[in-house]
Amino acid sequence: MDDALNAWTSLHTLPNSAIRILLLAESKCKIFGSVKKNTLKYLYEKHSRENKNFKDFLNLLFESKLVAWESRNKELIRLTFSGYDLLALRSINKKFNITSFGSNIARGKESDLYVAECSSVGSCVIKFYRIGRTSFRDVKRKRSFSKLSSSWLIHSTKAATSEARAYELLKNSEVNVPKFFWRNRHALLLEYIEGKRLSSLEEPELNAELFYQIILQVKHMLKTKFVHVDLNPFNILVSSDRKKVYIIDFPQWVPLTHPNSLFYLSRDLNNVASFFEQKGIRLDREKVINETLNLAKQLIESE
Ligand SMILES: Nc1ncnc2c1ncn2[C@@H]1O[C@H](COP(=O)(O)OP(=O)(O)O)[C@@H](O)[C@H]1O
Ligand SMILES: [Mg+2]
Repeated sequence: MDDALNAWTSLHTLPNSAIRILLLAESKCKIFGSVKKNTLKYLYEKHSRENKNFKDFLNLLFESKLVAWESRNKELIRLTFSGYDLLALRSINKKFNITSFGSNIARGKESDLYVAECSSVGSCVIKFYRIGRTSFRDVKRKRSFSKLSSSWLIHSTKAATSEARAYELLKNSEVNVPKFFWRNRHALLLEYIEGKRLSSLEEPELNAELFYQIILQVKHMLKTKFVHVDLNPFNILVSSDRKKVYIIDFPQWVPLTHPNSLFYLSRDLNNVASFFEQKGIRLDREKVINETLNLAKQLIESE
């Protein structure tokens, strides 16, 4: 079973005491990357009213793949992606009441996305960051243990925080983005957009009109003093009726005042334009890109 589905199942079966141990492990792993088994036992017995059965509850966490050994001598424990997912899902569930959690809609190099239903916000997407997953797999393959294996927790939370910040900044702008409901740890709760990725469209749905709509979105973003930095046909969604484009996936955004913002902007615009042109759609590429870059320059100068 994959990490988040395993977390969702475990959330409903784990006793509270096991979750308490997981929370204690998290608090140490966030700072040190891992925690000594004896420290965890000490913390659990110190803070817990029912301070028995540490060993049994810890075993449950291991069996459910929510924690793993960080060191060969079985002294240091770390959280797994699944363990961290469980804690994020638990918090999201408390606040939004998840009524169903299911299909994986995307599995990227550094994130996993699932569709969910929440009683307070309806259809939504939960995006879990997995920064370092690739290098972690590498580590596992080589059967060695590395510091990288635990720092993912910090980097994944940072990426989620950065994306959440972007959504906050864009909230009152004219840019079409999914509604952002909440971030917890390395997970974002977003509105589910019914539609398709730009990358999967072909003519006649793919046309110059759509390109100009995307450029308009980029201009709105510039007015919010904002450059996407990873704009490409996979990070643009087109609504089912093909009338609205949405921009997604913002962890790398930079403010317009960033020293490389014009370079990033030009790269973003060229990525999108090249995609349309490769599909045989004729565009006023030079003109549109120069116009957009000039707008950005004006906005930078007026800072
Ligand atoms: N809010 C959403 N509604 C519907 N589908 C989405 C949503 N957000 C992302 N997706 C789908 O998941 C894919 C990956 O999401 P994205 O945020 O781009 O993460 P990644 O970092 O893995 O690229 C997107 O290309 C899109 O197909
Ligand atoms: Mg993406």
